[in-house]
Order: sequence, then C-alpha cells, then structure tokens
Amino acid sequence: TSNQMWGGRFAAGPDAIMEAINASIGYDQRLAAQDVAGSRAHAAMLAKQGIISDNDAEAIREGLLTVLSEIEGGEFAFSTALEDIHMNVEARLKEIVGEAAGRLHTARSRNDQVATDFRLWVRDQLDAAETGLVALMKALLGQAEAGADWVMPGFTHLQTAQPVTWGHHMMAYVEMFSRDLSRVRDARKRMNESPLGAAALAGTGFDIDRHNTAEALGFDAPMANSLDAVSSRDFALEFLSVASISAMHLSRMAEELVIWSSAQFRFVTLSDRFSTGSSIMPQKKNPDAAELIRAKIGRIFGANVALMMVMKGLPLAYSKDMQEDKEQVFDAADNWMLALAAMEGMVKDMTGNKPVLEAAASSGFSTATDLADWLVRETGLPFRDAHHVTGSLVAMAEKKGCDLPDLTLEDMQSVHGNIDASVYDVLGVHNSVASRMSYGGTAPEQVRKQVARWKEVLG
Ligand code: ARG
Repeated sequence: TSNQMWGGRFAAGPDAIMEAINASIGYDQRLAAQDVAGSRAHAAMLAKQGIISDNDAEAIREGLLTVLSEIEGGEFAFSTALEDIHMNVEARLKEIVGEAAGRLHTARSRNDQVATDFRLWVRDQLDAAETGLVALMKALLGQAEAGADWVMPGFTHLQTAQPVTWGHHMMAYVEMFSRDLSRVRDARKRMNESPLGAAALAGTGFDIDRHNTAEALGFDAPMANSLDAVSSRDFALEFLSVASISAMHLSRMAEELVIWSSAQFRFVTLSDRFSTGSSIMPQKKNPDAAELIRAKIGRIFGANVALMMVMKGLPLAYSKDMQEDKEQVFDAADNWMLALAAMEGMVKDMTGNKPVLEAAASSGFSTATDLADWLVRETGLPFRDAHHVTGSLVAMAEKKGCDLPDLTLEDMQSVHGNIDASVYDVLGVHNSVASRMSYGGTAPEQVRKQVARWKEVLG
C-alpha cells in the first residue's frame, strides 16, 4: 500500500531498501517536543486567522499534547513507513482526534516544519552550552583563586620559558571559554528567526500570520525569504563551528591535564572520581576523562566538515540531502555537552601540587629573562647585549650542572663586571612573577584582579 501521507499518486508502496534509506525517524524522534510545539503554534495561528475552526484547533492542540506524552512516556510506536517525526506525530494525531488532524498541515510543508523544529532544538543546545561554559568557567575561577600565587613553569615549545602562576594559567582558559560563550550568544541571536510559514519554498496563498507563530515560539522575527527559510542550514553549521572552536579549547586543556597528571610531571592530581584504574597494573591511575574529551572532539570537527560537505552543492530550495543535518548536529551536541561537564568535574576536583609546581618553576633557567631585564635596568646594557651576557651565564650554569641562582657572584662577575648581589633578588621565581605587573601579566595581584572581575561578570 502506498504512503498514507503522500501516496495519492502512487500505485505501489516503497521497496524495503527505499524505506530504509529514506527514514529518519530512528534519530529525528529527538525533535518530538519541538515538532509538537511548532504544530501547536501553527494550529493556534490558523484558527486565529479563521483558516481552521476553533474546535479543530483545540482538538489538534490537545491531541498533540497526548501524542507528546505518549512519546515521552516511551509508549509511542514509531513507524519507519511514516519516515520521520513529523509524519509519525501527525498520523498518531489522526488516530486520536480524527479528521481535524488533517487540517493541521494547511499552509505548511515538512520543509518549513523541519527547519523550525531543528532551529528550536539547536537553540536549546546553545542555551545548554551557555550553562555548561559558565559552570566550567566558575570551576576554573575556583582553581585560579586558590592558586593565584602558586608559581609554575610557563612553557613555549613545551620547553620551560618563564615562571607563571597557576592562577594565571587557569585564567587563560577562562578567557578562552568566555569567547566561546560570546560566540554561543552571537550564534543564538543570529539563528533566532522563524522559518515557519515559508511552506514548501514559495510561501502560501493562505492568509497566515508568521509574526504570530514566530512570537509564540520565542523567535525574534519570521525569516524574510521563504526560499532561504527552507534551504538554509547555516544556523546548524554555525552551531557546529562554535562547538568546534570550543571543543578545540577543551581538547587543549585535556591534553595539558594528561601531561600534568603523568608521573614525570606530577603537576596535578586528578580525583578518583575522574580517573580510572588498570586491570593489570595495580599502581595505575589514568586520566581517561581527559583523554576521551581530547578524542571525542574529533567527532565534533568531523560533524562540522560533514555538514559543510552535505550543503555545499545543494541548489535552492529543499533537497533531501538536508535530512543528513540532524545526526551530525545531535552527535556533536551530545559530545560537546558531555565534554563540558566532564571538564568541569575534573577541574573542580583536581589538586594542583604546589611544591612540585614550584620546584619545576625554578628549574630550567626559567628566570633568565629576569636576569637580562635586570642587566638592562641596573647596568644600562642594551637588551640584545644583556641577552648575550645572560646566555653566557646560562651556558656556565649548564656546564656546572646548577641553576642560575646557584652561580656565585664571582662566577657572574667573570662574565660581566657590573653585576652585584642585588641580582639574586630577581633570580627567585616568586620575585619573577610578582614583577610581571603589566596589565594581563602573571603577577598574583593581576590574577586576583581578573578573578574578581570575572566573578562579578558571572555572578
Ligand atoms: N525528514 C525530513 C528532513 O529531515 C523532513 C522534510 C522532508 N521534506 C520533504 N520534502 N521530503 O529533512
């Protein structure tokens, strides 16, 4: 038998393979709540415009709630023959309310319907991402506040560069995640327009009120072009792009936690709650959550590329290719939310190993730049010459197998006669970080200011 929704011109039903490749109900059932909300708004508007009767609209709106509660209660029998969530809902509605159900689809197409449902879904995810990002930022602020003045090595090329503070390092991530947050808010603002009423592609001859449905669904306005409304998925791509950038930040941080929790670094101890053991090596405590964040991020990047590929060759307006948008976005959203939550949990629970961080900060000639700066300030050497003198002192220390503060004054004076004992003040890591008072610098005082600023912003 042919399809009950669109089978009028068909003599035979689809091949089983046709049904299999066509059906999206296996995953787009996640749009049930959005589909029902969109249909309820549409039905109410149709009645208000006198296009359907108030009685029919009421029956539709009540019936839709029953359908949704059946779906949410797990009592709904989804049918692959009915392809997608839209037709599954409508078919069940017909069983419940009868003929009135057939009037719901007046002045509407599945093309504007799915575009509306999907926008509503993505909008919810942007809101969830906002919550997740804020929670993560708060966890980082907690770490930054506790360790505003703990010194640790700062790296370039993963080689010891200059001492920084633990708080400063945590706050660097706060800044990154804050930009993700701002991208999330931007994306939400841009995507918050309603496709509903664009119908199949050209609009409709019925006297509908698109402003009414847009407002009922929390959109800022109806989309201004019906072709654009049904054929654009840049809102989904922007979601995936924003997710990808944020995921990249999560992955970098995860990578640092993997390195930092190793026996060779011991910069942090991850909590038992966010670690796992080995089935053969009893001593092991593995940073699996961080590793999985690092790995899952690949799926988010993949989804972004995959949907770009789906969209890039499509002529206007709707093509069935676009049905492939949902699985990519669903998977990316699930993994982004999970990664945000896992990172928040790890950050909240982790313990920075202050003595280890401090010892590491003092090794590797990390205050060589402070020494060069001292030579500039105290002896008037041009920076390039001071750099050279300091380089010779580093070579000397390396040869002796000691660090810069371990060189004697005589050693230093043999390289440059004007060095005096006050140089030792700048060779200590605490003095080094305390001196970095430039705006945005690593000095504990600067870090505390930034922590206070962000606490106020985040409330
Ligand atoms: N399941 C479809 C999708 O996700 C709904 C739209 C179908 N429209 C159509 N003209 N066949 O894109």
